[in-house]
Amino acid sequence: MEESPLVEARGLRKVYPGGVVAVDGVDLEAWEGVTVLMGPNGSGKTTTLSMIAGSLKPTKGYVKVCGYDVWSGDWSKPRECMGFAPQNMPFREKLSVLENLVWYGLIRGLSIGEARREAKKLLEAVGLPDKGKAKVAELSGGMRRRLTIAAALMGDPRVLILDEPTSGLDPRGRSEFWRLVRDLSRDRAVIASTHIPEEAEEVGDRVYIFYKGRIAAWGSPEELIKRYAPKARIVIQGRGLSNPPNVRGATLVRSGDDTAIYSTMDPGEVLPRIVEALVKVGAFIERVEVRKPGLAEVYMTVTGSGAPSEG
Ligand SMILES: Nc1ncnc2c1ncn2[C@@H]1O[C@H](COP(=O)(O)OP(=O)(O)OP(=O)(O)O)[C@@H](O)[C@H]1O
Ligand SMILES: [Mg+2]
Repeated sequence: MEESPLVEARGLRKVYPGGVVAVDGVDLEAWEGVTVLMGPNGSGKTTTLSMIAGSLKPTKGYVKVCGYDVWSGDWSKPRECMGFAPQNMPFREKLSVLENLVWYGLIRGLSIGEARREAKKLLEAVGLPDKGKAKVAELSGGMRRRLTIAAALMGDPRVLILDEPTSGLDPRGRSEFWRLVRDLSRDRAVIASTHIPEEAEEVGDRVYIFYKGRIAAWGSPEELIKRYAPKARIVIQGRGLSNPPNVRGATLVRSGDDTAIYSTMDPGEVLPRIVEALVKVGAFIERVEVRKPGLAEVYMTVTGSGAPSEG
């Protein structure tokens, strides 16, 4: 593990021509492992990733990748260190899949022979081993996403930046892709944006939640859940539940004749008490479920009404 982050962004701000403030005061670090960006549509994820990847100039702030400043000094150094898969990767549509990959390899400083070898290996890794000779224009949307990821990986960069890499992939493709990302992230930094909280929770070592161009919250999934959505819900289904008793350590969230929902910090401790109290008042319990909160709940909290604008 390095002493300093592989990606370091400080005070990033982007004002687009026309005056839209898309990103405002973003600080972000990525180390070896997976860093995930989440946030509503238009919250500034793509703008931030593009500034990190060197394709969109910040209005203010700086970015360092592998210790090299992206926006001042020698651009070839940070460029060789990172691969970027934007939401729409530009390919030469009439050339073959393999030819396109070789092209990206040459840009990153590989020889033709190295590029061809690596391109074949990567097509295998992303599940397109038979598509080398196909023209890019003939690929399906999901195959194109896979090719995008392979292209970003050409040259074996230490930093991999992926904007919504799983959008358009089928469920099997998604889970295979995240497994590949986990493997890749053992000795490099992967930064990826996604709209799917379950994926972020499973794969993210560090998650940034964007809201209106700022970072509303960040941390490991566990830290975020502990801080923003610590309460489990206990859902009781049955009959005679319309007047459920108060129970120490739990808050009654909702009740009807056939359902009662409590929230609590400590479901293991509180559940037996709830069941006991309900039985005592003559309720009939058919089903009990403990719902542990996840990043989805964190996301709703920090991007909902009254969401923090920073910190
Ligand atoms: N080229 C542009 N010119 C002007 N405004 C832009 C441009 N690109 C993005 N914006 C604006 O900047 C803000 C942030 O957009 P951005 O694409 O970074 O969001 P995002 O978080 O990636 O959203 P999504 O989840 O939909 O991909 C939005 O208000 C958007 O309208
Ligand atoms: Mg985007």
